Parts: sequence; structure tokens; C-alpha cells
Amino acid sequence: MSEALYRKWRPQLWEKVVGQDHIVQTLKNAIRSDRVGHAYLFSGPRGTGKTTTARLLAKAVNCQSDDLKTRPCNKCENCLSVNQGRFMDLIEIDAASNTSVDDVRDLREKIGFSPSQGKFKVYIIDEVHMLSTAAFNALLKTLEEPPPHAIFILATTEVHKIPATVLSRCQRHEFRRIPVIIIVDLLKELVVAEKLKVDDDTLFMIARQSTGAMRDAISLLDQLASTGDVITLELAQQVLGTATNQTVINLVDMICVQDSKGCLDQLHSALDSGTDPRQFARQMVDYLRGLMLIQLGNEKSIDVTDEVRQIMGRQTQKVSMFILTELVKLFNNAANESRLAWQPSLALELAIAQGVQLFDVQTSQIQAPRLIKEEESKPSRQTKSKEPSEYQKQVDPEIIKTEKSEAEKVFESPAKENAPDSHEVVTEGERPDVKAPFGINEVRESLTEVKNLIRNYRKNTEALLASARSFSMKNGVIIIGFQSPVLKERMEKGEHQEIIQRAFSHVLGADAKVKAVVINAKSNLVDHEEEFEPDSLVSAALDLGGKIVDKE
Ligand SMILES: Nc1ncnc2c1ncn2[C@@H]1O[C@H](COP(=O)(O)OP(=O)(O)O)[C@@H](O)[C@H]1O
Ligand SMILES: [Mg+2]
Ligand SMILES: [Zn+2]
Repeated sequence: MSEALYRKWRPQLWEKVVGQDHIVQTLKNAIRSDRVGHAYLFSGPRGTGKTTTARLLAKAVNCQSDDLKTRPCNKCENCLSVNQGRFMDLIEIDAASNTSVDDVRDLREKIGFSPSQGKFKVYIIDEVHMLSTAAFNALLKTLEEPPPHAIFILATTEVHKIPATVLSRCQRHEFRRIPVIIIVDLLKELVVAEKLKVDDDTLFMIARQSTGAMRDAISLLDQLASTGDVITLELAQQVLGTATNQTVINLVDMICVQDSKGCLDQLHSALDSGTDPRQFARQMVDYLRGLMLIQLGNEKSIDVTDEVRQIMGRQTQKVSMFILTELVKLFNNAANESRLAWQPSLALELAIAQGVQLFDVQTSQIQAPRLIKEEESKPSRQTKSKEPSEYQKQVDPEIIKTEKSEAEKVFESPAKENAPDSHEVVTEGERPDVKAPFGINEVRESLTEVKNLIRNYRKNTEALLASARSFSMKNGVIIIGFQSPVLKERMEKGEHQEIIQRAFSHVLGADAKVKAVVINAKSNLVDHEEEFEPDSLVSAALDLGGKIVDKE
């Protein structure tokens, strides 16, 4: 068996450590100026370079190169023996293994000995948070008066478990998750050196999958390379179990056409064949999130094959942003619940049932008063509305035409006609400065209808409105809070503000004014009346998208 790739690729020189520049620079300076401390604590997620850096430091302090700046030189006898794992004065203790307690207890005795090979005895204690209290106390005693020839490097993934007494005696360095781009760069280098064939899409997917841990990224690549096949995105997804599940695709299709029975059949046959309900719910969330990102114009950031991308493109045509965010929420709830539920498939069935109903939400809201009357006169009648479902509306050209024309009437008629009532109407009583004949509650209640109206006219405007973080009112003006100045400016530019204003005016039956503001903290809104926050998922996704665009 050949050596694991990540071991083979463990950096032997400072220059090869990526993504931790702040730490490497500090340590290099310490070496250069011959001011190395006696106790270090390296914390951070696994696979980000803690052990690697600890060994580099151990090597550097014992390097025999005359020039401090070039330590570790990787050429002298000491450097070579550290690389080969036979350097007597480097002692690595894994606190997670059983023998570690004794190791640390012995430590105090052993520590008295001077280094035999190098200048310093270096103790690397990995997963130091796992030490028993007794061992910690022994360690603490040692750290209080470290012998001049000893250096301790403690490493941990869980720094919050380290007693303050230990923390205060160490020089601390926090290792960060490594950005996707940097992981991809290193993987590319490795692919060339190892003569592998992998395309960029796959490397990006591996990098994202490894969530900032370089070791995981290299191991994933290693795992894929060992299949002996050409590494494609399909292969990667299969091996990693992230391939888009056909059941997920089918389920979304069926929810869109309100085929409840089909949905449940799909679900049950998947569960019968051993699919874990929680895992399945997560896949649904992932997939729906992908649809959401596509609608937000950010399809670049999703890892799917071209074939699935096409299917997703088709599906996003059928579902509104509003429904998508609701679906994400429903399945996200299911994913968080299914573990606890006594009936494992129940959470998913509920999500499906509610998801299917979403497609007549709009209808039932508009029709609510009449439906109640009908139900009173014909109590046996099921509440099955004659109105077309949301989905039918979106696919039936006739319906689209009538809806379109209604929207056009609202948005394209001359401005005055849209203002049946104006700000002269003053509500009696306590708030003389509030002139609008509607309050925050009416705004809240109108929001769904406003969004639906706008969706039939300008998808972009609806998406923008969906990214709002808060709604409030001040002096009769509807204040829409955005999290970033970019979004605020976008709303102020072009026709968005006018469209939103008209939609509110139409739905509220009174002249409505809207204003965009940037909100960073709640306190920005203290002098406003009551505010409310719409679903933050879309805005979260937008933010996410924004960041990704920034990076690339
Ligand atoms: N910052 C990094 N730069 C380059 N390679 C890294 C980095 N972090 C981790 N690696 C790779 O991952 C492997 C394991 O890293 P390691 O230092 O043992 O991580 P940790 O101790 O933080 O869990 C290394 O052998 C190396 O191949
Ligand atoms: Mg480690
Ligand atoms: Zn050397």
C-alpha cells in the first residue's frame, strides 16, 4: 500500500503551509530573532495544519543551519531525522489515546533530561483537551516552570475545553478553515504532480465538501484517485454520496403539480429501500436551496452535473421564490425533527402535505371569505377551490395572460389613477404624524399578495423584495430594511421602488410610499413603529450568493 496522499503532502517548509499566513509569519519571525517561546497552543478545526506547523516549529528550533532565516533548512541531519520521524528530541503525545495519561505523568520526570540530539526537547501534545484532570495538573506544573531546553506545543480542536490556567501560560494561535480557492490551488498542484486527471468543477466540489479542512480535501482526492477511473464530477458525487437523488427530483416535480399520492409513493419506496429519513430531508433541503440559488441568479455555486442543472432550471420556472423559501423551511424542519419523531417518516409526510398545499395558498387567501360562506351553505363540500392552483397559473398561458394583464394594469397605468386615497386621510387618535390609512399590520398582511402581484410583472423586483430583512413604518411611509447598501441602492435605482409602491398601493387600496434603508442592527429602527421580519432564508441565501460573487 502506498502512503496516504495527505502524509506524502505534509508541508516540510514554511512556504508550503497555506491559508495560515498570520501564524507562519509570527513563528518565522520568532525563529529568525531567536525568540521562541516555551509553550504554544494551536487551536482550530481538524486538518488545517496544526500538527504540520508544530512539527515545522520543532524542526526549525533544532535545525543546524547557520542562517536563522533559513530554518528549517530541510537538509541538515536534524531536519532530515525529523522528516523521517526518528528525531529523539521530538516527542509527540496523542492525548486522545489511552496511554496518554501515563505519558503526561511521566512527563515531569522525563522532562528533567536534556535533549540528546538537538538543542530543544519539543513536546507536541495533540488533542490536549482530552487530558484527564490529573494529567492537566501535571502539565500545568510543568508549564509554570518549563526547563530552558523544553518547548511545549499543545494542539486542540476544542479550545473552550482548555482551562484558563493553561491558556494563560501559552502563546496562542488560531488556525482558520482554509478558503475554497486556496484548497483548489493546492489540489491542482497535487493533481499535476501525481499525474491525475481531474477537472476544475470536480476540484471545486471536493474543496467545498471538505469545509476548509485541507486534510479532508486531499483524502477525498486520494479516495477518488484510488478507484482507478478518470475522476469526473459524477464519479466524485457517487463516491461522496452527494449525487442528486432521482427521488428528490421526482418529489419536487410532484409537489409542483400537487400530486400528493405520487409524492407519498416516492417517499415510501425510498424509505422502504433503506434511505435514512433524516438524510433524505437534508437532500431535499440542499436541492431546494439549489433551486433558490438558481432563481437568485447564482447557479455557479451549486455542485451538480449539467444534466441535473438543466432539470433544476426547468423546475425553477414552475416555482415562485415565495414557495421555494417555504419549501426549504418545511423540509428543514423535517430534517431537524425526524431523528426525534417516534414515527420516522412522519416529519417528511407532513412537509410534503404542507408543501403541496402551498400551491394553493394564494388562492385560498384571496378566496377566504367566500369559501367560508360556501362551506356554511354546503357543509359536506370539501374546501377544494375552483381557482387555478399556483402551479396551474404558472404553466397555463391563458391564466398567465389574464394575470399578466392585471399586473400590467397596476404597474403601467399613469401614476395618479393608482392613488384612490391619499395621505390626507389621517387616522384619529394617538399618532397624529401617521397619515397613511393603513398600519404595519395591514402591511404585513398585504405582503404575500404584493409579492404575488409583482411576481407576475417583474421577477427581479420580487427577488429584491424577498431579500428585505425587515418592514416597518414611519410617518406613514413603509420602511424596507435591507442588510446591505448594495441592495438598498438597487431598490432605489430603476423601476423597483415604483413597482413596489404601486403594488402596495393596489393591495392596500391607498397611496403607499416606500423607502429603502440599510439595517445593520435592530437599534436602527428604534424610533419606528413596530417592525416585522419576513423569512430571512432568502436574504441569507442572497448574502451567501453575494459573498461568493465577491470572492470570484
Ligand atoms: N495549512 C495547510 N497547508 C497545506 N497543507 C495542509 C494544511 N493543513 C493541512 N494540510 C494537509 O493536511 C494534512 C494534515 O494536516 P495536519 O497538520 O495534521 O492537520 P491538523 O493537525 O490541524 O488536524 C497535512 O499532512 C497536509 O497534507
Ligand atoms: Mg493534528
Ligand atoms: Zn536544518
